[in-house]
Amino acid sequence: MTAPAATAPIGVFDSGLGGLTVVGELIRQLPRESLIYFGDTARVPYGPKSPDTIRRYSREIADYLLGEGVKALVVACNTATAHALPMLAAELPIPVIGVVEPGARAAVAATRGLGIGVIGTAGTIASGAYEHAIHALAPTARVTTQACPLFVPLVEEGWLDTEATRLIAQQYLAPVVAAGIDTLVLGCTHYPLLTPILAPIVGPSVRLIDSAHATAAATRRAIEDTGLGRPMVSAEGATPRYRFIVSDAADQFLQAARRFLGATIERVETRTLG
Ligand code: DGL
Repeated sequence: MTAPAATAPIGVFDSGLGGLTVVGELIRQLPRESLIYFGDTARVPYGPKSPDTIRRYSREIADYLLGEGVKALVVACNTATAHALPMLAAELPIPVIGVVEPGARAAVAATRGLGIGVIGTAGTIASGAYEHAIHALAPTARVTTQACPLFVPLVEEGWLDTEATRLIAQQYLAPVVAAGIDTLVLGCTHYPLLTPILAPIVGPSVRLIDSAHATAAATRRAIEDTGLGRPMVSAEGATPRYRFIVSDAADQFLQAARRFLGATIERVETRTLG
């Protein structure tokens, strides 16, 4: 493969909608870069699926995005990062950035030493990826984890501020709060939308870590380090281009995506993989 041009887009993928929280941050922190987002809406959710299946899906999406000429790949899904990041980083000829390490780094920087809580999908929590990443940076940090499998369907349904969601969140978070934490990692791309419900449950002394911000910053560093940043003035014009592609139900995605990104999304393409 010839080296991608600096004007090439950055590829971003998630199992569905959640990765748009990362897209929002990428647009904010890298306003000159074009993006191609792939949401695997035909096969969402990834959370309960086996590591082998997630690796197969992730490889198919990465191959597709490479074919579209991306210059870097952001795995904007915690479950896919937990299971497939080492494989993608070893196989792909472009920088690959996941969400777990940046989130772990932000948590280690935020904690005052009491303890770090991590919530995520069943797959992310079972993988131990966050504990591993946190302990690589802070070997003695006390980490308490909790899978919250009902959160993703609640967010997909738009139940962001309902009594039912609050009760479920209270039940999931009780053991994490009881363990005594000062920092809580929202280890799933959907969870930042639940912040208004989660913050009062954990209390004002607990910092919530949304890895979207840290992931966009890590992407900016990767792009700068490899000299792949889009020039100020390029032959293709300065206006970045955003493409959104899903594997199913484009209209439904468009409606829900506006909750994440507002009018930035005008059109959604469909592409079947596998
Ligand atoms: N995007 C996934 C994650 O961050 C959550 C949704 C799913 O289970 O597919 O883990």
